Amino acid sequence: MAKPKKVCVVGSGNWGSAIAKIIGNNALDKPELFEREVRMWVFEEMVDGKKLTEIINTKHQNVKYLPDIALPENVVAIPDVKDAAKDADILVFVLPHQFVRGVCNQLKDKMKEGTVAVTLIKGFDVAEGGGILLISDVIRNLLNIPCAILMGANIANEVAKENYCEATVGCKDPELGRLHKSMFQTKYFRIVVVDDEETVEVCGALKNIVAVGAGFADGLGYGDNTKAAVIRLGLMEMVKFCEVFYPGSQQSTFLESCGVADLVTTCYGGRNRRVSEAYVRTGKTIEQLEAEMLNGQKLQGPPTADEVNVMLKNKKMEDRFPLFTAIHRICKGELPATKFLDCLKNHPEHMISHK
Ligand SMILES: NC(=O)c1ccc[n+]([C@@H]2O[C@H](COP(=O)([O-])OP(=O)(O)OC[C@H]3O[C@@H](n4cnc5c(N)ncnc54)[C@H](O)[C@@H]3O)[C@@H](O)[C@H]2O)c1
Repeated sequence: MAKPKKVCVVGSGNWGSAIAKIIGNNALDKPELFEREVRMWVFEEMVDGKKLTEIINTKHQNVKYLPDIALPENVVAIPDVKDAAKDADILVFVLPHQFVRGVCNQLKDKMKEGTVAVTLIKGFDVAEGGGILLISDVIRNLLNIPCAILMGANIANEVAKENYCEATVGCKDPELGRLHKSMFQTKYFRIVVVDDEETVEVCGALKNIVAVGAGFADGLGYGDNTKAAVIRLGLMEMVKFCEVFYPGSQQSTFLESCGVADLVTTCYGGRNRRVSEAYVRTGKTIEQLEAEMLNGQKLQGPPTADEVNVMLKNKKMEDRFPLFTAIHRICKGELPATKFLDCLKNHPEHMISHK
């Protein structure tokens, strides 16, 4: 029988801590599959004069990023990512996407034979020459290990409270897919494994752009029907984006938790929507609001809109994705938010008389 796997969670923000709770409990429940100790890399910072790692390891709570939720005692916070990942069989990457390259560079050439990764990170990396790279590809390329994906309608605080929800694992290797399912699935967190890795990941990244648009609609005071239109047009652009840039993408994947479900939850409940609403209402910059409203948490929508726009501009395809483009331009202050409705009214979807 295979040896139990050593798991390291790379990241410890809001979602990182919630997923460490799940993996920690599963490690306790399934000792035949996973080693008891689950290491969690924590980007060290001081909270009320104490190191966050020390607080987590004594109080068993991430008081800054996931307050009032008990973490199992077998989740151990470690401030050096090389120590945390040492000898790991499974690396679970869950940190804001802008930091992934720096972290992977520290782990480069330090992985043991057979290590695998799963990414829960939503966003893209900018490729040389102005394209985009999937975060799973950054991990695969820098660490030379396989990388699966977990995405879904999973607002971290709700998952941490054990409210029922679903998630999708994208994994081409069925055996690894089963292993990942046993690591993540609980009675309240239900996993479906599909082999369409790219669509799972692209949905998770793009939905944050649409959530920014949903926030603009809320900030402009338009109500639920307008927001539903933003969600629908956003979904159309997500589907088209996959068709154009990831041929072979399966439409059925959009019906998994990583697709429509994640899009809906983010456009109603997520931080991208909340900050974007405030952007319209207050006139402050996105950076100012991120600092004021999120207590160290990071926004993914505006940087993702930026990364996507660099590629669309390069390929002269901005007009094929007018919603993504308008959202990007409003975030950058190049277009007033009041023009957002024009983009919806003039969307190419409405210019076709009969489909
Ligand atoms: N929070 C959610 O509800 C949720 C749900 C699903 C997916 N996600 C995705 O999970 C990923 C991680 O998000 P999160 O919510 O766990 O994080 P977060 O935004 O709550 O926290 C930010 C994290 O970044 C760390 N950090 C700050 N500066 C850093 C640096 N220079 N280098 C490395 N790390 C640094 C902080 O210590 C903290 O752990 C993101 O891609 C997000 O889109 C989040």
